[in-house]
Amino acid sequence: MTVKRETFGSQLAAVAAMASSAIGLGNIWRFPYMAGQYGGAAFIIIYILCSFFLALPIMLSEMVIGRSAHLGTFGAMEKLAPGTKWKWMGLLTVVTPLIIASFYSVVGGWSIGYLWKSLTLSFSASSLEDSTLVFATFSSSVWGPLICFVLFLAINCIIVLAGVRKGIEKFSNFTMYFLFALIVVIMLYSLSLDGSKAGVDYLVKPDFHNLTPKVFSSAMGQSFFSLSLGVGTILTYSSYAHDEGKLVSIAAGTAGFDLIFAVIAGFAIMPAVFAAGISPGQGPGLIFSTLPYIFAKMGLTSPWISALVSILFFLMILVAAVSSCISMIEVGVAYLIEQHGFTRRGAVLLLFFGMLGLGALCSLSFGPLADVHIFGVSIFSFCDMLTSNYLMTFGGLLFVIFAGWKMDKEEVRRQLTNGASGTFASRIFGFEYFLIRYVSPLVIFAIFLTNLAS
Ligand code: PFF
Repeated sequence: MTVKRETFGSQLAAVAAMASSAIGLGNIWRFPYMAGQYGGAAFIIIYILCSFFLALPIMLSEMVIGRSAHLGTFGAMEKLAPGTKWKWMGLLTVVTPLIIASFYSVVGGWSIGYLWKSLTLSFSASSLEDSTLVFATFSSSVWGPLICFVLFLAINCIIVLAGVRKGIEKFSNFTMYFLFALIVVIMLYSLSLDGSKAGVDYLVKPDFHNLTPKVFSSAMGQSFFSLSLGVGTILTYSSYAHDEGKLVSIAAGTAGFDLIFAVIAGFAIMPAVFAAGISPGQGPGLIFSTLPYIFAKMGLTSPWISALVSILFFLMILVAAVSSCISMIEVGVAYLIEQHGFTRRGAVLLLFFGMLGLGALCSLSFGPLADVHIFGVSIFSFCDMLTSNYLMTFGGLLFVIFAGWKMDKEEVRRQLTNGASGTFASRIFGFEYFLIRYVSPLVIFAIFLTNLAS
């Protein structure tokens, strides 16, 4: 079935869309607490290596497949490997982002709830335990988180409904500037606090003493999650890119912005954590328990600054989460439009109700459904673990194997070099192709096995 495809307006628009997909809760929420738990600068160095040698080849593979076929995951695999079972692998990567979008929207919804709490100045400064209790009470209640979740999902669906250029591209262009401006302001404020220097030292002085295999697999998992890899979002966005755009530049731009943002987020959060005298290894509760306590403590001396910083902070989280979530939804929308002849409106509506069901279960799994366990964990944690530890890694593995072993090498070369044939272009291509064909699959496979065994 031939459908007139939408495209991004320019190469810069493609970078902005992919970088906005990449920059999200993973950078602001996951990266700082992981750096906190796994040794500060040592983790950051390993993370950069993982991004370059493992994540970038997957990103390039997804881009090559998507732009070569100008179709979403299922259609691309069917077109590039006709008559094979690869298209069913493509279907798997349609399902994965929708599972992620469902539980990610629950956290996105919390950011709406916390934005509201910031606006109404209702954070508690009595103790960190108290702040943790406020979060536990909020997340385990029924209606508050559910309403915020539905609101978050609806905002996403409205943007996706507006289309690739009028919805996704426009929102992503705005997001990029907005997020960078906000995180820099918050970082400058955080660095100006008394006692913040210890947080800076923590992030710049590497501690290589506690490097375990877990640190490596966590750094890799984080770089996949942060760059939105293995789930077909980069593939689908690349299918909307023009043939003249340089994929290597788009990939480098996306990974570069994502990394810079994560590091600035680290410098925005850790100095404030140290200035408040809190341990850096707080784990996932960092954003919704620790930071509100810090904001409330600041409020004892300067209420307006505290209110402003917390409003900006949760607004930033909300915008970052939306720009990532729309990329996940677009994977399913492209599939339904291309393969089943849906209109964009019909596709968005169907997915909205699907994600509403799964997301509601994830939200309730903090409260009334807390005792429902799948493989020993809550519904939310199961969806998170299933996707982050297995499906994303598996998807990434499939994409590099497809680009490195199944696709025609000359087509891969054409996509990556845009037809340039000089020695420099050939060397760069040779290096990238080597990473795609050998290094990435082997290392990802090894880590996938480690995750299965643990
Ligand atoms: N990269 C996003 C983040 O860092 O929050 C998360 C994400 C987006 C994961 C899109 C997967 C995805 F398809």
